[in-house]
This record gives sequence, structure tokens and C-alpha cells, in this order.
Amino acid sequence: MRIGVLTGGGDCPGLNAVIRAVVRKGIEVHGWEVLGFRNGWLGPLEGLAKPIGLDDVEDILARGGTILGSSRTNPYKEENGPARIKAVLAEHGVDALVAIGGEDTLGVARRLTDEGVNVVGVPKTIDNDLAATDYTFGFDTAVHIATEAIDRLRTTAESHHRALVVEVMGRHAGWIALHSGLAGGANVILVPEKPFDVRRVVELVQRRFERQYAPIIVVAEGAMPADGAEVLQTGEKDAFGHVRLGGVGTWLADEIAHRTGKESRAVVLGHVQRGGTPTAYDRVLATRFGLHAVDAVHEGDFGVMVALRGTDIVRVKLAEATAELKTVPLARYAEAEVFFG
Ligand code: F6P
Repeated sequence: MRIGVLTGGGDCPGLNAVIRAVVRKGIEVHGWEVLGFRNGWLGPLEGLAKPIGLDDVEDILARGGTILGSSRTNPYKEENGPARIKAVLAEHGVDALVAIGGEDTLGVARRLTDEGVNVVGVPKTIDNDLAATDYTFGFDTAVHIATEAIDRLRTTAESHHRALVVEVMGRHAGWIALHSGLAGGANVILVPEKPFDVRRVVELVQRRFERQYAPIIVVAEGAMPADGAEVLQTGEKDAFGHVRLGGVGTWLADEIAHRTGKESRAVVLGHVQRGGTPTAYDRVLATRFGLHAVDAVHEGDFGVMVALRGTDIVRVKLAEATAELKTVPLARYAEAEVFFG
């Protein structure tokens, strides 16, 4: 038996831990051959493949990124994409694929399953916004990094009596903002799920200044002002044609400075949140996902994604896994609001 493995979409701490678990269990327990496809779906599309052996995964558990490389290539947007993938898999004698990715990568996996390709999905995203699993690996690491940044920014903000706006990732869901904001004791947390009133934010900031403390505002990159003011979003191009990395944080820091007359600074954490070594929690979760993905392949249970439910790893249909995003419930957000101001 020969299986293929690929990593697609934005990278994420823990990807290498999944690859290692798939290779170790696939080779040592089942005696399979494992083929690594490079750069997400581009690999099986263009035949970019090489065997991965035990030595290749010896030292990668703690390493961030992915030894296979990644891309956001969608074969359904390429001419004859699915047919080319099927041909490459047949040419390389690949019986099944383990696809590690987020919503887009798993969406492709679902469609390929419908066309007869044997795929098992593994969920990854620092954003934690995949509905069928309680947690995705990478999220804990991102929250840890963002929390440490908030702790550090607080001491410099206090020294200079400034407001500090920390923009974290999360285009559609505010999980990183909510968890790092709670862990870091933020005075305001803003998420895409609840458009914010900038006047209310300014009131909270002012209240904090009146108590002689420096306000810390954590804002998810996808949070938007309720009045529809124009704010550039991550991924959009600015007037110079450059792709923006963050926009709402800088916009908000300017608004706060303008409306309060106090100094304000914005910090866009960006890809720092996605890089580097995974936390122990993410290494364990990623490893368990990899092991259970191999079990699914072994049992011939395709078109499924491994998922965490409580402390158990279960399987869900890829169709269910990609049906909707998991956003922050307003009741969860309300818990954090108790600490605002
Ligand atoms: O999907 C994960 C994510 O980190 C988002 O939170 C963020 O908006 C996006 O990727 C950034 O993508 P890129 O690396 O392509 O700039």
C-alpha cells in the first residue's frame, strides 16, 4: 500500500507533527510506503512528489511550518485539475491521500472524494474556525504567542501612558482575539462576529485612562466598525497596490488618538502567530490526528476528517466538516465583556 500526504493553505504549528505520526505509524505499524506531495494541491496536480522515510521525520516534531511546503492552489480552478490529480495519483500508485488543511483544502478533499479519490482529511488552522472539531492544532500556539505579546505590550504601554491596540489574526472568527484577550487581561476585545461601536470603545479606553492605567485593546483582523466606516482588511490592496497585512488595528489606534487626545500605538502581530515551534498541546493533538488518520486509511474509511470531541478523536464526514465555519458565540463574547474598561 502506498499513501500520499500533503499540507495545504496557510501553514500552522503542528503540521510536521501530523506528518511524523502518519509516516511513523504508516511505515512501522502497517509497512506502507509514504509519498510526500509538495505545496498543497499543487503537488498532486503537477506530480511534485518524493518518498518520505523514517529519517525524514526524525527531527521535525518541534519544528514549525511544514517540511512539505504549502500553497493555496485549488485544482478546481485549474484546467482539468481533478483529472490531472487522478492521473498523477495513478501514475505514482497512490492508494489513498491524507490531506492536512483548513476549510479550502478540505473542501477540495471533499469534492475529490465524490469523484472516487480516497482521501482522509486532517483539520488545521490557527484560527480554530472549523465547525466539526472542538479545537484545531496551531490555535493553542497562536494564542500563546499573542498572550505573551499582550503581556509585553502592557508594560511598555503603562510606562508611556499610551493606548495599545494589538491586531491578531482571524478574518472570519475571533477565537484568537477572544482567548488571547482573556488570557492577557485586555480592556477591550473586538471580534468579526460583533461589529463594534467606536464611540463605545473610546469610552472604555477613556475610563481606563481615568483610572491611571494604560488600555490594551485586542482586535481580530476581521473586526469591523458598526457604522460601516471604510477600513482596509488583510489581503486587500492599498493605494500603492501592496497587499495589506492588517488594517483595522491601525485604523482604530488613529481613531483613539484622535478622539481622546492621548497617544496610541498599533501592533499587527501577523505571521509571528503562525511561525515557530508548536506548544505541547498542539504537538499532542496533531500527533493524535495523524495516528487516527492512518487508522481511517487502514480501515478504508474515506471521505472523512478526524476531529476532536471532548478528549476523543472521532471521524466526521468531510461534507459535514466543511459545511460551515465555527464562529464565536455571542454568549462567549459576553463573558469577556465583564472585564472591559
Ligand atoms: O487562515 C489562517 C490565516 O492565518 C488567517 O487568519 C489570515 O487572515 C490568513 O491566514 C493570512 O494569510 P496569508 O499567509 O496568505 O497572508
